[in-house]
Amino acid sequence: MAQQRVQIVEVSPRDGLQAEERNVPTATKLELLDRLADAGHTVIEATSFVSPTAVPQLADADDLMARLKRRPGVRYPVLVPNEKGLERAVAAGVDEVAVFVSASESYSRKNLRRSRDDAIATALAVVVSAKARRLRVRAYVSMVIADPDDGPTDPAEVANIGARFLAGGADEVSLGDTIGAGTARHVRALLAAHRDAKIPVERLAVHFHDTYGQGLANVLTAIDLGVRVVDTSIGGIGGSPFAKRAGGNLATEDVVWMLDGMGLATGLDVRKLAATTTWMAEQLGRELPGRAARALSS
Ligand code: COA
Ligand code: ZN
Repeated sequence: MAQQRVQIVEVSPRDGLQAEERNVPTATKLELLDRLADAGHTVIEATSFVSPTAVPQLADADDLMARLKRRPGVRYPVLVPNEKGLERAVAAGVDEVAVFVSASESYSRKNLRRSRDDAIATALAVVVSAKARRLRVRAYVSMVIADPDDGPTDPAEVANIGARFLAGGADEVSLGDTIGAGTARHVRALLAAHRDAKIPVERLAVHFHDTYGQGLANVLTAIDLGVRVVDTSIGGIGGSPFAKRAGGNLATEDVVWMLDGMGLATGLDVRKLAATTTWMAEQLGRELPGRAARALSS
């Protein structure tokens, strides 16, 4: 039997750097993108075309995409919040975008400055425009387990939002536990709700933050239930600048170490990833939470 494959979506250049205090020069970002491709990444979320006032760390998105030497076989999706972001992304020549909404009301108002339902309507319209331009589209749903202000999120509500995006033309839905509130039990309930809503597991990705150290267990649970797309960030950098209690993302090299051990193929070289984390820690001037990089470099 062919070896089972898990697609890792590397989000450090976007989800990682948007939350870093230190502003990273465009040249360093380009080097990061190169190093990630060298390590075997085939999907790298490169940046976001959001308001530069809201996220100054990624204000160089247009320049970055113009200077990026895209590798054949590597997809470089970018985040877009609205039609304006989509226009900028199209002008930059991207072929894949990601829209984002929150399953909770409070975080929608903080992150998108709109009610949850208004934000969903805006994002659905962006999906339609993006599909009309033949772009691949991912839809992020955040706070899928709980919101720090609103409390637990109803899994059926999350599935309902995902179903609307898939029906609207999105190719994939990424389920974000933005504050890392979930445990294996929550992940099971969440995926069961998607199964009940008849959403094919092939269309789902998981995006877990490691705030309480549950990231790997949650990924393993999702994989056991058939999920084959996992979002991670080298070194575990990142999170949302708009969410309190958003710990770092789950570290790519930690997940790849686990998947290697399980005999699941990612196409990634864990040692090259670890070396990239060590390099990134120097650029950011801080130690990064990922474990495998520390173990592999000592
Ligand atoms: N790119 C560049 N500028 C943008 C933009 C985009 N995609 N979207 C909005 N803007 C600018 C507008 O041009 C306007 O600028 P001005 O004040 O100079 O005229 C300003 O931002 C406000 O525009 P408005 O349409 O009123 O947006 P808003 O204030 O309601 O902001 C968002 C809503 C979501 C667009 C904005 O807050 C944003 O980009 N947030 C980033 C969220 C994010 O990235 N979170 C982390 C990811 S999880
Ligand atoms: Zn994240």
